[in-house]
Amino acid sequence: MRRRIVAGNWKMNTTYAEAMDLVEGLKNALTQEVVGDTGVIITPPSVYLSDVVGALVDNEFIAVAAQNVHEKDNGAFTGEISAPMLSSLDVDAIIIGHSERRQYFGESNESCKVKIGQALNNELAAIYCIGETLEERQSGNFMEVILNQCAEGLEGFIADDMDNIILAYEPVWAIGTGEVATPEQAQEVHAGIRAWLAERFDAETAENVSVLYGGSCKPGNAAELFAQPDIDGGLIGGASLNAEDFTGIIKARTNA
Ligand code: PGA
Repeated sequence: MRRRIVAGNWKMNTTYAEAMDLVEGLKNALTQEVVGDTGVIITPPSVYLSDVVGALVDNEFIAVAAQNVHEKDNGAFTGEISAPMLSSLDVDAIIIGHSERRQYFGESNESCKVKIGQALNNELAAIYCIGETLEERQSGNFMEVILNQCAEGLEGFIADDMDNIILAYEPVWAIGTGEVATPEQAQEVHAGIRAWLAERFDAETAENVSVLYGGSCKPGNAAELFAQPDIDGGLIGGASLNAEDFTGIIKARTNA
Protein backbone atom coordinates (compact mmCIF):
# COMPACT_ATOMS: atom_id res chain seq x y z
CA MET A 1 0.00 0.00 0.00
CA ARG A 2 1.26 3.47 -0.81
CA ARG A 3 2.46 5.73 1.97
CA ARG A 4 0.64 8.78 3.22
CA ILE A 5 3.11 11.63 3.46
CA VAL A 6 3.12 15.23 4.60
CA ALA A 7 6.30 17.07 3.64
CA GLY A 8 7.17 20.64 4.58
CA ASN A 9 9.30 22.79 2.28
CA TRP A 10 10.73 25.68 4.26
CA LYS A 11 12.28 27.27 1.14
CA MET A 12 14.65 30.20 1.87
CA ASN A 13 13.10 30.98 5.24
CA THR A 14 14.09 30.93 8.93
CA THR A 15 17.18 32.07 10.76
CA TYR A 16 19.15 29.34 12.51
CA ALA A 17 17.37 30.01 15.82
CA GLU A 18 13.95 29.97 14.16
CA ALA A 19 14.74 26.73 12.36
CA MET A 20 15.82 24.97 15.54
CA ASP A 21 12.74 26.32 17.38
CA LEU A 22 10.51 24.96 14.65
CA VAL A 23 12.16 21.55 14.93
CA GLU A 24 11.62 21.59 18.71
CA GLY A 25 7.99 22.62 18.24
CA LEU A 26 7.41 19.74 15.85
CA LYS A 27 9.19 17.23 18.08
CA ASN A 28 6.84 18.21 20.90
CA ALA A 29 3.69 18.21 18.78
CA LEU A 30 4.17 15.04 16.77
CA THR A 31 3.15 12.11 18.92
CA GLN A 32 2.23 8.63 17.68
CA GLU A 33 -1.43 9.59 17.89
CA VAL A 34 -0.96 12.67 15.71
CA VAL A 35 1.29 11.00 13.17
CA GLY A 36 -0.44 7.62 12.88
CA ASP A 37 0.92 6.04 9.70
CA THR A 38 1.70 9.40 8.05
CA GLY A 39 5.29 9.87 6.96
CA VAL A 40 6.46 13.35 7.97
CA ILE A 41 9.32 15.08 6.14
CA ILE A 42 10.78 18.52 6.79
CA THR A 43 13.01 20.37 4.34
CA PRO A 44 15.04 23.09 6.01
CA PRO A 45 17.58 25.31 4.22
CA SER A 46 20.69 23.26 3.50
CA VAL A 47 22.93 25.20 5.91
CA TYR A 48 20.86 23.84 8.81
CA LEU A 49 20.57 20.24 7.63
CA SER A 50 23.36 18.86 9.79
CA ASP A 51 21.99 20.36 13.00
CA VAL A 52 18.39 19.48 12.16
CA VAL A 53 19.34 15.84 11.51
CA GLY A 54 21.25 15.91 14.82
CA ALA A 55 18.28 17.33 16.71
CA LEU A 56 16.10 14.52 15.34
CA VAL A 57 18.44 11.63 16.00
CA ASP A 58 16.12 10.14 18.63
CA ASN A 59 12.92 11.08 16.84
CA GLU A 60 11.15 8.30 14.98
CA PHE A 61 8.53 10.41 13.22
CA ILE A 62 10.33 13.15 11.30
CA ALA A 63 12.53 12.58 8.24
CA VAL A 64 14.70 15.31 6.74
CA ALA A 65 15.03 16.33 3.10
CA ALA A 66 17.11 18.83 1.13
CA GLN A 67 15.59 21.37 -1.25
CA ASN A 68 17.91 20.74 -4.19
CA VAL A 69 21.02 18.84 -5.29
CA HIS A 70 23.67 19.18 -7.98
CA GLU A 71 23.94 16.75 -10.90
CA LYS A 72 27.51 15.72 -10.09
CA ASP A 73 29.10 13.95 -7.10
CA ASN A 74 31.82 16.57 -6.55
CA GLY A 75 34.07 19.01 -8.38
CA ALA A 76 34.52 22.65 -9.27
CA PHE A 77 30.91 23.80 -8.87
CA THR A 78 31.16 26.67 -6.39
CA GLY A 79 28.17 26.99 -4.12
CA GLU A 80 26.60 23.65 -5.00
CA ILE A 81 25.71 20.64 -2.83
CA SER A 82 25.97 17.03 -3.96
CA ALA A 83 23.99 13.89 -3.19
CA PRO A 84 26.98 12.15 -1.54
CA MET A 85 27.30 15.18 0.79
CA LEU A 86 23.63 14.93 1.75
CA SER A 87 23.90 11.20 2.19
CA SER A 88 26.91 11.66 4.48
CA LEU A 89 24.73 13.88 6.72
CA ASP A 90 22.06 11.16 6.98
CA VAL A 91 19.55 13.24 5.09
CA ASP A 92 16.65 11.06 3.88
CA ALA A 93 15.36 12.68 0.72
CA ILE A 94 15.72 15.50 -1.81
CA ILE A 95 13.06 17.70 -3.39
CA ILE A 96 13.81 17.80 -7.11
CA GLY A 97 12.39 20.10 -9.77
CA HIS A 98 10.36 22.40 -7.55
CA SER A 99 8.67 24.97 -9.77
CA GLU A 100 10.75 27.75 -8.18
CA ARG A 101 13.90 25.90 -9.26
CA ARG A 102 12.44 25.49 -12.74
CA GLN A 103 11.26 29.11 -12.94
CA TYR A 104 14.16 31.01 -11.36
CA PHE A 105 17.10 28.68 -11.85
CA GLY A 106 16.35 27.24 -15.28
CA GLU A 107 15.92 23.62 -14.24
CA SER A 108 14.66 21.34 -16.97
CA ASN A 109 13.08 17.91 -16.96
CA GLU A 110 16.42 16.68 -18.26
CA SER A 111 18.38 18.06 -15.27
CA CYS A 112 15.69 16.71 -12.91
CA LYS A 113 16.21 13.25 -14.38
CA VAL A 114 19.94 13.43 -13.61
CA LYS A 115 19.24 14.71 -10.09
CA ILE A 116 16.73 11.93 -9.39
CA GLY A 117 19.42 9.47 -10.45
CA GLN A 118 21.88 11.14 -8.06
CA ALA A 119 19.39 10.82 -5.20
CA LEU A 120 18.71 7.15 -5.87
CA ASN A 121 22.39 6.30 -6.38
CA ASN A 122 23.08 7.75 -2.94
CA GLU A 123 20.25 6.02 -1.12
CA LEU A 124 18.14 9.14 -0.86
CA ALA A 125 14.48 9.30 -1.81
CA ALA A 126 13.52 11.78 -4.53
CA ILE A 127 10.46 14.00 -4.27
CA TYR A 128 9.91 14.95 -7.91
CA CYS A 129 7.76 18.05 -8.43
CA ILE A 130 5.61 18.61 -11.49
CA GLY A 131 2.84 21.04 -12.29
CA GLU A 132 1.51 23.51 -14.83
CA THR A 133 1.64 27.30 -14.97
CA LEU A 134 -1.49 29.43 -15.05
CA GLU A 135 -1.19 29.89 -18.83
CA GLU A 136 -0.87 26.14 -19.31
CA ARG A 137 -3.92 25.55 -17.11
CA GLN A 138 -5.92 28.13 -19.05
CA SER A 139 -4.84 26.78 -22.41
CA GLY A 140 -6.43 23.46 -21.48
CA ASN A 141 -3.41 21.29 -22.28
CA PHE A 142 -2.14 21.12 -18.68
CA MET A 143 -2.36 17.33 -18.47
CA GLU A 144 -0.06 17.03 -21.45
CA VAL A 145 2.46 19.36 -19.79
CA ILE A 146 2.36 17.40 -16.52
CA LEU A 147 2.67 14.00 -18.17
CA ASN A 148 5.55 15.30 -20.27
CA GLN A 149 7.32 16.36 -17.06
CA CYS A 150 6.71 12.85 -15.75
CA ALA A 151 7.92 11.18 -18.95
CA GLU A 152 11.10 13.25 -19.32
CA GLY A 153 12.01 13.44 -15.63
CA LEU A 154 11.49 9.72 -15.10
CA GLU A 155 13.03 8.60 -18.38
CA GLY A 156 15.16 5.51 -17.94
CA PHE A 157 13.97 4.61 -14.45
CA ILE A 158 12.45 1.20 -13.83
CA ALA A 159 9.54 0.10 -11.65
CA ASP A 160 11.83 -0.78 -8.72
CA ASP A 161 13.24 2.76 -8.72
CA MET A 162 9.73 4.08 -8.06
CA ASP A 163 9.95 2.64 -4.53
CA ASN A 164 12.17 5.62 -3.77
CA ILE A 165 10.46 8.29 -5.84
CA ILE A 166 7.58 10.37 -4.53
CA LEU A 167 5.70 12.61 -6.96
CA ALA A 168 4.38 16.02 -5.96
CA TYR A 169 1.77 17.68 -8.15
CA GLU A 170 2.04 21.41 -7.56
CA PRO A 171 0.07 23.69 -9.87
CA VAL A 172 2.32 26.78 -10.14
CA TRP A 173 -0.70 29.08 -9.96
CA ALA A 174 -1.54 27.71 -6.50
CA ILE A 175 1.93 27.96 -4.93
CA GLY A 176 2.15 30.73 -2.36
CA THR A 177 -0.88 32.45 -3.87
CA GLY A 178 -3.56 31.35 -1.43
CA GLU A 179 -5.43 29.98 -4.45
CA VAL A 180 -5.69 26.26 -3.80
CA ALA A 181 -6.72 23.79 -6.50
CA THR A 182 -10.18 22.42 -5.80
CA PRO A 183 -10.18 18.81 -4.58
CA GLU A 184 -11.75 17.86 -7.92
CA GLN A 185 -9.09 19.67 -9.97
CA ALA A 186 -6.31 18.05 -7.94
CA GLN A 187 -7.92 14.60 -8.02
CA GLU A 188 -8.31 14.78 -11.81
CA VAL A 189 -4.57 15.39 -12.23
CA HIS A 190 -3.54 12.81 -9.60
CA ALA A 191 -5.71 10.17 -11.29
CA GLY A 192 -4.16 11.11 -14.64
CA ILE A 193 -0.65 10.74 -13.21
CA ARG A 194 -1.55 7.36 -11.73
CA ALA A 195 -3.00 6.16 -15.04
CA TRP A 196 0.23 7.28 -16.74
CA LEU A 197 2.30 5.39 -14.12
CA ALA A 198 0.28 2.23 -14.83
CA GLU A 199 0.98 2.54 -18.53
CA ARG A 200 4.63 3.54 -18.20
CA PHE A 201 5.45 0.96 -15.49
CA ASP A 202 2.68 -1.39 -14.35
CA ALA A 203 -0.52 -1.40 -12.29
CA GLU A 204 1.23 -2.37 -9.06
CA THR A 205 3.74 0.46 -9.34
CA ALA A 206 0.96 2.95 -10.09
CA GLU A 207 -0.86 1.78 -7.00
CA ASN A 208 2.23 2.08 -4.77
CA VAL A 209 3.70 5.47 -5.73
CA SER A 210 2.77 8.29 -3.37
CA VAL A 211 1.49 11.35 -5.21
CA LEU A 212 1.35 14.50 -3.06
CA TYR A 213 -0.54 17.73 -3.71
CA GLY A 214 1.16 21.09 -3.14
CA GLY A 215 -0.04 24.68 -3.46
CA SER A 216 -1.64 26.72 -0.66
CA CYS A 217 -2.49 23.60 1.34
CA LYS A 218 -3.49 24.71 4.87
CA PRO A 219 -5.05 23.11 7.96
CA GLY A 220 -8.45 24.41 6.77
CA ASN A 221 -8.41 22.83 3.30
CA ALA A 222 -6.15 19.78 3.80
CA ALA A 223 -8.86 17.32 4.86
CA GLU A 224 -10.95 17.70 1.70
CA LEU A 225 -7.86 17.35 -0.50
CA PHE A 226 -6.66 14.26 1.38
CA ALA A 227 -10.12 12.71 1.16
CA GLN A 228 -9.58 12.31 -2.60
CA PRO A 229 -8.67 8.75 -3.56
CA ASP A 230 -5.49 9.59 -5.46
CA ILE A 231 -4.10 12.33 -3.20
CA ASP A 232 -1.71 10.65 -0.79
CA GLY A 233 -0.60 13.70 1.12
CA GLY A 234 0.85 17.16 0.71
CA LEU A 235 3.97 19.16 -0.01
CA ILE A 236 3.49 22.21 2.16
CA GLY A 237 5.26 25.56 1.77
CA GLY A 238 4.06 28.52 3.86
CA ALA A 239 2.07 26.49 6.39
CA SER A 240 5.09 24.28 7.18
CA LEU A 241 6.84 27.26 8.80
CA ASN A 242 4.43 27.18 11.71
CA ALA A 243 4.49 24.08 13.94
CA GLU A 244 0.80 24.36 14.79
CA ASP A 245 -0.34 24.72 11.17
CA PHE A 246 1.94 21.94 9.94
CA THR A 247 0.70 19.68 12.74
CA GLY A 248 -2.88 20.52 11.75
CA ILE A 249 -2.18 19.35 8.21
CA ILE A 250 -0.54 16.14 9.48
CA LYS A 251 -3.62 15.50 11.63
CA ALA A 252 -5.83 16.01 8.58
CA ARG A 253 -3.78 13.37 6.73
CA THR A 254 -3.79 10.91 9.64
CA ASN A 255 -7.52 11.24 10.20
CA ALA A 256 -8.68 11.33 6.57
P1 PGA B 1 2.71 26.87 -0.54
O1 PGA B 1 3.96 26.20 -1.28
O2 PGA B 1 2.15 25.81 0.38
O3 PGA B 1 3.30 28.03 0.22
O4 PGA B 1 1.75 27.28 -1.58
C1 PGA B 1 3.91 24.88 -1.73
C2 PGA B 1 5.23 24.49 -2.31
O5 PGA B 1 5.85 25.30 -3.01
O6 PGA B 1 5.71 23.36 -2.09
